[in-house]
Amino acid sequence: MTLSIAIAGIRGRMGGALMRAAGDDPRFDIVGGTSRNPAAAGDAAVVKDAGVAAAKADVWIDFTTPQASLAALDALTTTRARAAIIGTTGFTLDQDRAISTAAQRVAIVRSGNFSVGVTLLAEFVRAAAAKLGPAWDIEIFEAHHRRKVDAPSGTALLLGEAAAEGRGNHLAELRLDARQGARPEGGIGFAVARGGGIVGQHAVSFAAEREVLTLSHQALDRAVFADGALAAALWAADKPPGLYSMRDVLGL
Ligand SMILES: NC(=O)c1ccc[n+]([C@@H]2O[C@H](COP(=O)([O-])OP(=O)(O)OC[C@H]3O[C@@H](n4cnc5c(N)ncnc54)[C@H](OP(=O)(O)O)[C@@H]3O)[C@@H](O)[C@H]2O)c1
Repeated sequence: MTLSIAIAGIRGRMGGALMRAAGDDPRFDIVGGTSRNPAAAGDAAVVKDAGVAAAKADVWIDFTTPQASLAALDALTTTRARAAIIGTTGFTLDQDRAISTAAQRVAIVRSGNFSVGVTLLAEFVRAAAAKLGPAWDIEIFEAHHRRKVDAPSGTALLLGEAAAEGRGNHLAELRLDARQGARPEGGIGFAVARGGGIVGQHAVSFAAEREVLTLSHQALDRAVFADGALAAALWAADKPPGLYSMRDVLGL
């Protein structure tokens, strides 16, 4: 059986990666897509309106902007779509709450990173933060291509949340963004680099006085995110409404 999917932002970098991955895979049928400039797509199934694009879809896959993803989640209520895969990053706390509300109506798999490697890395970071304790300073480094709009990346925040959970806390209470001067105790620091075409590099360092442990990941091709999002779509298609993550998809 094939899964009917609609791809939001189909002309974007991730939209293109999803088209290539799903187009080559007989398990998927791409039945619609969105763009603010549908004429440029040269495909009648690409439209502006998310509700129209999702009309024949089982699952909605969305890597766009926070505003566009939230509008699409609203539009899905009038469609047959049973699940949504949200890869967009850069949501505010209020927008996070709006996603949780939408998850009462539809199954949503949301992740700042759909790669298997980063999902596993977050597990290691959680465990290391729990074992090593507060004497080890946690610093998260990330690098991305020059066009990325949000910073720190959704992946860096996901890793920060895992580290905070390992310490029995929430990231919001420990987060240290760009700073000058001495390091406050117990926080989780973020450092950001932007340049060229870097697909995504992340490293989490645990630094003590006499040793440093660093766990890292590098994405070599954004196809890894597309493959993860498509695996999530297959997994979510028969799930009840709720907010899920790649941990659920991978059974970690
Ligand atoms: N979770 C993950 O694994 C993962 C991996 C990679 C990227 N991301 C995230 O995914 C998002 C997209 O990344 P990208 O690199 O693909 O960006 P991109 O190349 O800029 O593509 C985003 C697309 O969104 C569409 N869009 C923008 N504003 C819109 C609006 N107001 N209404 C409707 N559509 C709109 C645009 O389509 P048109 O110009 O055709 O309208 C654009 O092509 C970012 O938040 C990024 O951080 C997540």
